[in-house]
Amino acid sequence: MISRIHFLKGDITAMDVDAVVNAANTDLQLGAGVAGAIRSRGGPAIQEECDRAGPIALGGAAVTTGGRLKALYVIHAASMHLGGRTTAESLRLATHNSLLRAEEKGLKTIAFPAIGTGVAGFPIADCAHIMLTETIEHLKVRTSLERIYFVLYDDAVLKTFEEVYHQLTARTVSA
Ligand code: APR
Repeated sequence: MISRIHFLKGDITAMDVDAVVNAANTDLQLGAGVAGAIRSRGGPAIQEECDRAGPIALGGAAVTTGGRLKALYVIHAASMHLGGRTTAESLRLATHNSLLRAEEKGLKTIAFPAIGTGVAGFPIADCAHIMLTETIEHLKVRTSLERIYFVLYDDAVLKTFEEVYHQLTARTVSA
């Protein structure tokens, strides 16, 4: 089966996809990191919509306009409370709900960052395992999604995601 999951190194705000996923907090206040890049490149409309949509539950995901980004939408995945930390469960839920929001809108392409691994301090390998497990599960059922990109910010993180993906899919094949 041709994989619908792809990995690349780069700036997620440059992705020409239906939706980019923001590494958000439950207040939907766009801070630094991915959120800061989305805010500065996407323009004020995104935070304005976030101000109306937030706060959301921990692990929730909210959809806003993509503003001036190439992406039509931003899906804000709240894996932490402002000033808090990402946990395995909040990351799993935020990933799962982001995929559901994309499916609800019938989106074909989506780009994820390594949620939780910056300001929120979540370990990279654990992040990869959780996000990829959720994504592989989502693709087992009917979905509008055809291509899911993981856009990593440096070589080490890219390598970790690719390694974890091979471990997860190799086990599936051999089972
Ligand atoms: N494109 C892709 N990846 C990026 C980009 C970018 N433009 N900028 C940063 N990253 C990477 C970071 O290197 C890190 O690996 O995304 C990962 C997530 O980092 P953060 O954006 O800091 O997200 P997170 O750790 O989930 O913290 C979220 O930080 O900025 C605030 O408002 C945000 O409260 C929220 C918290």
